[in-house]
Amino acid sequence: MTLSGKPFTIALSGKGGTGKTTVSSLLIRSFITMGETPVLAVDADPNANLHEALGVSVHETLGSMREEAFTRTIPPGMNRHDYVRYRFRQALVESEGFDLIAMGRPEGSGCYCFANDLLSECMGELERDYHFIVIDTEAGMEHIARGTIGKPDLLLIVSDPGARGLRTIARIREIATQLGLEPEKIQIVFNRFRGGTAPVDIGTGQPIAIIPDDTAVEDADLRATPVSLVPPNSPAKAAVSELAEKIRQMAGKRNQEKGV
Ligand SMILES: Nc1ncnc2c1ncn2[C@@H]1O[C@H](COP(=O)(O)OP(=O)(O)OP(=O)(O)O)[C@@H](O)[C@H]1O
Ligand SMILES: [Mg+2]
Repeated sequence: MTLSGKPFTIALSGKGGTGKTTVSSLLIRSFITMGETPVLAVDADPNANLHEALGVSVHETLGSMREEAFTRTIPPGMNRHDYVRYRFRQALVESEGFDLIAMGRPEGSGCYCFANDLLSECMGELERDYHFIVIDTEAGMEHIARGTIGKPDLLLIVSDPGARGLRTIARIREIATQLGLEPEKIQIVFNRFRGGTAPVDIGTGQPIAIIPDDTAVEDADLRATPVSLVPPNSPAKAAVSELAEKIRQMAGKRNQEKGV
């Protein structure tokens, strides 16, 4: 049985190059395969590339429509609010089983507030009810620290199991906890795993997923083909499918508890 009710939001964070985009795209494909559609993919990295991993094109970002939507003359018969909604629809890429929205570059001050407010407002008005929202964030802790991704239902910290990675996990966890995210909503994903974990205390139990280093993923990158379309039996994709199943169960439980 597939889920219904309020979308379950998953944000992926972690240090640079750990596989946030790869895992986001594989997760989105897994939800689609499970029939948990539609999924909303949010690319919150100004250097947007989630669309490539999913095999779709992006023509416009929320950042790029900001100036224009607020400085341009509004077409006759439309108020500014309608116009923003209309432009949002244009920025939303619709594909088989998922939609994608790219936040784009932040405003001059490095603030995502505008794009973010716009996103939440327009999201609320979208007719389609998403089962899952997957947010691929930029490297570092900017989004977490500023609270720009709100309070997700699940924060996945993607990391390698080395000492530096583990320390980053600890820092992200601390900031997320300070922002009020419950400990059980913060989970670790080890990616590009080749065995062994550095002996650093990250103050957590087991990672929610261990994704192996996978030559199919590397090949997709070298051939510039969408990584999310690697064969289902490739080790990374199989591991992410298991992760998707765990998340579906979490979402089911949340819906039951909240009666949504
Ligand atoms: N499980 C894996 N096996 C092999 N290669 C992988 C795996 N996961 C990711 N990669 C490779 O690692 C590189 C970085 O991955 P990706 O772009 O997903 O990371 P990222 O965390 O989104 O990076 P950024 O911080 O720049 O946004 C890519 O070349 C990708 O192909
Ligand atoms: Mg990325």
